[in-house]
Amino acid sequence: MARGKLQARPADPVRGLRQVPGPRGKALLEEWRQYEAQTMTPQAPVVWDRARGMVVTDVDGNRYYDWTSGVLVTNVGHGHPRHVQAIQEAVATLMSSYDFATPARIALARQMVEITPPHLDRAFFLTTGSEAVEAALRVAKRYTGNWEIVSFYGGFHGRTWGAASVAGLAGPKKHFGPPVPGTIQAPFPYCYRCPLKLRPETCGTACLELMDSQVNASSTGRLAATIIEPYQGAAGFIFPPDGYLKALEQWTRERGMIFILDEVQSSFGRTGKMFALEWEDLTPQLLCLGKGIGSGIPTSALMAESAVIATVGPGEMSSTCGGNPVSSAAALAVLEIIRDEGLVENARRIGSILKARLLQVQEKCRHLGDVRGRGLVMGLEIVRDRKSKEPAADLTRRVIQRSAENGLLIGAVGIFGNVIRVAPPLVISENEAHESMDIMESVLVSL
Ligand SMILES: Cc1ncc(COP(=O)(O)O)c(C=O)c1O
Repeated sequence: MARGKLQARPADPVRGLRQVPGPRGKALLEEWRQYEAQTMTPQAPVVWDRARGMVVTDVDGNRYYDWTSGVLVTNVGHGHPRHVQAIQEAVATLMSSYDFATPARIALARQMVEITPPHLDRAFFLTTGSEAVEAALRVAKRYTGNWEIVSFYGGFHGRTWGAASVAGLAGPKKHFGPPVPGTIQAPFPYCYRCPLKLRPETCGTACLELMDSQVNASSTGRLAATIIEPYQGAAGFIFPPDGYLKALEQWTRERGMIFILDEVQSSFGRTGKMFALEWEDLTPQLLCLGKGIGSGIPTSALMAESAVIATVGPGEMSSTCGGNPVSSAAALAVLEIIRDEGLVENARRIGSILKARLLQVQEKCRHLGDVRGRGLVMGLEIVRDRKSKEPAADLTRRVIQRSAENGLLIGAVGIFGNVIRVAPPLVISENEAHESMDIMESVLVSL
């Protein structure tokens, strides 16, 4: 295969067949299943021991390339020395401050205001992405005095009840009772499986028109906000066509509603821009951030226009560990590393190398129905065959297992459980991209 200019190759640390799980991993997994409730997303049966950069080592000493970033969290790579040092120093100095100010918290708030669009002039810190979404919904309702929230089929915004109520997937809400009143849902442009059977090149604004009529039919006239992800992560890395998000933002603002952009997973360089909103110059009044901001240390943030968030007063919104000294130090180190190491550009550059190779593989693998995404977040939709597009969750599980046996860790998502996640840490080198892609290619072509 054509590879362009390769950097010097280090000794191959990963390739070769291994047993998954190994003997120690197998015993530990059995013990785990006895004691921890298994409500989480099923993964390859690998017990992680340690990791550096994009290489994970399991408890049996096997090494794997990581295309999961621990569900799009470790943007600066596992165990980045500057990240580790910042966290260690913070832990040794001051671990908790609740709602008191600290220099790190103040510096982080300032830097977050500086790197987000100018109208987002206030930061609010929390611990998880779900919490950031809850805060956004709360602020939007307070500011507008309304309570209806428009969200999308396939959307995922977390597991707390406000966030789960606006999800468009069964997982977060099925059999848990009624959602929060005021939830209105509309179809999302899933172009590979277009609900209107149209083509993205020619469909125009058909999706938006459908959403508009759905909202008009459902609303009682108390619309507060629209919440959307720049691409749908949990539903299967579904990217809307260019221009859709900007048109939706305009639709939202024309109605005096708040536009909430949930960038919990798409931010901090993941898509090849610091924030995915930059691709279309979006100007959400509320921006939810999480995952990559702490790169492993639980941290999240809500960025807001001051006039909007000022409607929530002192004592009305806080979070025990939000903005704590350790998470603030971790996030500050993340910002520094992303900037100093050019990780946003790296995500864009390596992402296009990986995408070009994946598109070549698609020619050789009839089960690879769709390759989509940008930067270092892509989805590979696995189907029975390209013509029928029938989702093939069983083949997807096989790809996960065989990839692990060959030294590549991946996960699957999607409405049908048939989309493989391509989301390595943003520190991935060109060599690592090709080495890990070689594994994926060999697994896919031999399916
Ligand atoms: C877009 C989006 N929003 C919110 C969340 C919830 O984040 P957390 O699991 O940190 O609560 C997630 C998690 O996957 C997400 O992808």
